Amino acid sequence: MLLQVDGLRKTFGRRVAVDGVGFSLDVGEIVGFLGPNGAGKTTTMRMIAGYLEPDEGAAKVFNIDVARERRRAQERVGYLPEGAPLYGEMTPWTFLRFVGEARGMTREAARHAVRRAAQDTRLGDTIDQPIETLSKGFRRRVGLASALLHDPLLLVLDEPTDGLDPNQRHSVRDLIRRLGQDRGLIISTHSLEEVEAVCTRAIIIDQGRIVADAAPAALAGEHGSLEKAFEALTRGEERA
Ligand SMILES: Nc1ncnc2c1ncn2[C@@H]1O[C@H](COP(=O)(O)OP(=O)(O)O)[C@@H](O)[C@H]1O
Ligand SMILES: [Mg+2]
Repeated sequence: MLLQVDGLRKTFGRRVAVDGVGFSLDVGEIVGFLGPNGAGKTTTMRMIAGYLEPDEGAAKVFNIDVARERRRAQERVGYLPEGAPLYGEMTPWTFLRFVGEARGMTREAARHAVRRAAQDTRLGDTIDQPIETLSKGFRRRVGLASALLHDPLLLVLDEPTDGLDPNQRHSVRDLIRRLGQDRGLIISTHSLEEVEAVCTRAIIIDQGRIVADAAPAALAGEHGSLEKAFEALTRGEERA
């Protein structure tokens, strides 16, 4: 199993952000995390990626407990945080090499990894242009390339198409579909249409709990549409 998540729970003060989340994931699956703002998607993803320790429960990547053996687990996970920071004055080439070397790669290994990730994300000629001069779509690809650099089998992407125009969104979706063929992917999104277009599976989260875990078409079939499923299964209101 690529990923096994059991009984994850996280509280912030008195707010229960994640309340017993469990599921497993295999290679070839593209899971869409859906849920109202504040449902607990980002918190769950951060625990899976090893950037936040759960209060209870565990995430295991290839049977490696992420909280107990964070480094080893993180070697197998690529994580794109919400609004990932990039260094505008660097080019993708220098930025990605910097990320690779910061991860402990030798200069040669980093060069090799950057070349591969740049190809995978179709960076093309933009590889040598300052990041601040790139379109939002290409900047997002640079973020994706940095998550892919160490060639992880599990990718956790927090709102990877947020803020992109329809064309950019389309090409990032194509990219996600392609990346998902020989990896396991989790993406969070507010777009039900995106889940229907790229995900093999939808996990709907509401108030820190999974309220549905099924193929998008199955949920749509059961409720009339994915939108109706979402409305029926979530309270639909935002939590502060
Ligand atoms: N670092 C934090 N400190 C305090 N509360 C937080 C923190 N991170 C998230 N929360 C709270 O946890 C809940 C879940 O947030 P989040 O996981 O970001 O939801 P989502 O990504 O689904 O919008 C929200 O109520 C949010 O305000
Ligand atoms: Mg979020």
